[in-house]
Amino acid sequence: MKTGFFQRTSRVEQVALAGGLATLLAIPGPATGAQAETMRQYQFGVVDDEVTLVMKEVDRPVPGANEVLVRVRATSLNRRDLSILESQYGGGSPRTGLVPLSDGAGEVISVGPSVSRFEVGDRVAGIFFSRWMDGRPSALTNASARGGAIDGMLSEMIVSHEDGLVEIPEHLTFEEAATLPCAGVTAWNALFKHGGLTEDDFVLLEGTGGVSIFGLQFSVAAGARPIITSSSDAKLVRARELGAYGTVNYRTNPEWQDAVRDITGNAGVTQVLEVGGRDTLPRAMRALGYGAHIAIIGGLSGFANTMPIGSFIGRGTSVTGIYVGSREDFEAMNAFITRHRLRPIIDRVFTLEDAPAAYEYMASESHLGKIVITL
Ligand SMILES: NC(=O)c1ccc[n+]([C@@H]2O[C@H](COP(=O)([O-])OP(=O)(O)OC[C@H]3O[C@@H](n4cnc5c(N)ncnc54)[C@H](OP(=O)(O)O)[C@@H]3O)[C@@H](O)[C@H]2O)c1
Repeated sequence: MKTGFFQRTSRVEQVALAGGLATLLAIPGPATGAQAETMRQYQFGVVDDEVTLVMKEVDRPVPGANEVLVRVRATSLNRRDLSILESQYGGGSPRTGLVPLSDGAGEVISVGPSVSRFEVGDRVAGIFFSRWMDGRPSALTNASARGGAIDGMLSEMIVSHEDGLVEIPEHLTFEEAATLPCAGVTAWNALFKHGGLTEDDFVLLEGTGGVSIFGLQFSVAAGARPIITSSSDAKLVRARELGAYGTVNYRTNPEWQDAVRDITGNAGVTQVLEVGGRDTLPRAMRALGYGAHIAIIGGLSGFANTMPIGSFIGRGTSVTGIYVGSREDFEAMNAFITRHRLRPIIDRVFTLEDAPAAYEYMASESHLGKIVITL
């Protein structure tokens, strides 16, 4: 197996990460252009019993009927991508040969027969679930998650069914648009589709990662009052600049839910983007006002497995499990982003060769907002 992974190797960089993270291997190959016969992409591999990222040079794909070929210009990382690499997502190791990353944006460079939605030159992003167009999720849509169930975007080119793409907002760069498919759509659905956000809402955002910062930007744009927590005062200063109504350091203030409630004048928050899980959910519940909506999104500290169900009745709380969203949701979010001229917050941009360092950077939790890899 090891020989197979190294057969195209010209140089190997091995990055052993602190904290038991999987080893990452970057194997730079030749540069590719729009006409190149081959292209570079990362795949998951296993070396010395560790899941790794391996850069490979593969044949340029050819779009079939209803498919388009996209020259991917930028991708972005989500926490899920790190969890997949660490074999801590969905209960197992990623499939060998799978291309990582759900999120990416680029340009259509050729179209197959019968394509009607896109033309060469269109600027597009992949949708997270390549087969979830609208309506409810299903086993079928879940089985189409990029970078997990099916190949992802960390590839100089991808072939996609035309239905699995959206046009990106004109005012955004490829780097900015690449941040939207997972974190953006998740925050959008939590607040607007399921939460029915209004300007009367106090919104609780936990930490300053990708989902929370989109939640902050969307809440500010909608005229609501977002209250955001962080382990870093410097990040909270930045969150204020981005329009946060209130900020609380959850590390120096372990009873942070009381501070959040104080900021609301004891009314309590009415929207929660629950990304923290075990450490945060019980505290978020104590910061709740009446008629609140909790979007269950993540488990950064592991998943909480108890909720005070009885309290939901008296306070009229609603709870929704969110799993990103459909193409229709993505397009609705894009319309909002265009209307408000929002620009996603990118913390740092890495090159394709430095993709392993991007994963390492995410693991360090030094970022605010999104981490991007250009191709
Ligand atoms: N269900 C879905 O569809 C969906 C979609 C996207 C993400 N998610 C999940 O949502 C979570 C966040 O994802 P992400 O991509 O936004 O992550 P991310 O960008 O990696 O965010 C990490 C940040 O979260 C904060 N954080 C970490 N542990 C925390 C804790 N115990 N309490 C409060 N804040 C904490 C830290 O912010 P500070 O440095 O400011 O302290 C950290 O920098 C993950 O669990 C992810 O798997 C789910």
